[in-house]
Amino acid sequence: MPLITELTLPELAIEDPTFGEDPFSKFSAARTQHPWLARCAYGYVVTAYAAIRDLLLMDDKMRGPYDKVFDLMNARGSRWARFQEESLLAIWGEPHKRIRDVLAPMFTPRAANLRRGLMREVITGLLDEWVPKGAFDFEEFASYFPINVMCRMIGASPDVIPGMRSSLETLGLSLNLIPNFLPKLEQAMQFMETYLERLVCDRRAGERPGAEPDLLDALIQARDSGGLGAQQMTSFLIFLFVAGYDTSKNVLTMIMDQLIGRPDLYERCAADKQYCQKVVEESLRYRNPGTSSRLVNEQFVYRDVVFPKDTMLFLPNSVSGRDPQAVDDPDTFDPDRPQQNRHLAFGRGMHMCLGQYIARAQIEEGFHLIAQRMRNPRRAGKSGVRPFPGVWGLKGLPIEFTPAPGKLAASYPSIA
Ligand code: HEM
Repeated sequence: MPLITELTLPELAIEDPTFGEDPFSKFSAARTQHPWLARCAYGYVVTAYAAIRDLLLMDDKMRGPYDKVFDLMNARGSRWARFQEESLLAIWGEPHKRIRDVLAPMFTPRAANLRRGLMREVITGLLDEWVPKGAFDFEEFASYFPINVMCRMIGASPDVIPGMRSSLETLGLSLNLIPNFLPKLEQAMQFMETYLERLVCDRRAGERPGAEPDLLDALIQARDSGGLGAQQMTSFLIFLFVAGYDTSKNVLTMIMDQLIGRPDLYERCAADKQYCQKVVEESLRYRNPGTSSRLVNEQFVYRDVVFPKDTMLFLPNSVSGRDPQAVDDPDTFDPDRPQQNRHLAFGRGMHMCLGQYIARAQIEEGFHLIAQRMRNPRRAGKSGVRPFPGVWGLKGLPIEFTPAPGKLAASYPSIA
């Protein structure tokens, strides 16, 4: 059986800053040379849906990519490296299961649904402020939504949002393997740590008479009962912001970008939240921001190829839904297609997105109301693209639209 190093494989330059402009045609061309594997500057890229899914499920043979990433970024011993090492995505096996079991009850579909009212309040506040402008960068607008929701979920003051947003923009690029980026990451980490440590201290010290317990109370309780360490809790709080920020913002921006060319679907999103849910799910299949990366921890054989220990693998959830072996007519955007949620946008295996129900709820609630208030959106300039590995997406989406007043929302039927 051949070693992966011995195979003749196509090259995919995922590290090239322009790769993200049209990854689909490049993956499609690569699959004509090898059905599921390609080589890149840092290791191997898996190009087919089924292989991405299967390898994501082989948790017992993998570990996080961090030791290699720290070397590439010259980041060993840094604040950012410590944060990455402590993050849930870097922990494997029994220790991961222990922490995930403590956190999982806070992130169930029910817990997410209970926050839909809060999400509607947040997006309505943002729309009231932004819609009268009639034109803006949609990506910038969308960026305020997940931060505001997360701040409300842990009782953080809105005053912190500008500083947090700038830190999250920096941290969102952290796995894009940009050289000389460490000083900016260190600054962003310091901001997030200082603020969130103080928030936890204040919450411990302060009474909140009559207030319903929130996510921060649940995390503090998990810490006090020994389920989480003190540093682990701060790292997890930062990770929640990082994990939910760029991903949700980029998905919202990709949906708007997609629907600008489909006013029929856009109208239906405004009128019918159930249809909007289908559009969100189809959008997550059609393209999404994530590429998971793994190091092989223990040599294994998959489809008659030997993967030696320490092989670096890139598993792009982002393009997996466009593999014609897995999805009929994959380049057609069709919210009515069956089995929409087979996509890999939230990963697979033990690290599958913990916040997926919150993500879905906020994007569904958000886009349904956006479509009611920003009528007839048009492109008003060009978008750039973000680097492909890490968290991919559009860089900027200038739009103009016809503003609609808030009260219009009430005239649309609403489901829970
Ligand atoms: C559309 C938005 C989102 C997308 C596409 C997304 C995608 C992902 C993916 C692909 C993973 C697995 C990464 C891997 O295996 O390498 C992941 C993990 C994770 N996500 Fe999300 N995510 C989104 C939003 C959120 C939100 C809003 C939160 C928090 C409220 C969140 C929290 C997490 C956490 C904590 C993990 C790590 C789970 C673990 O290691 O056990 N995500 N996400």
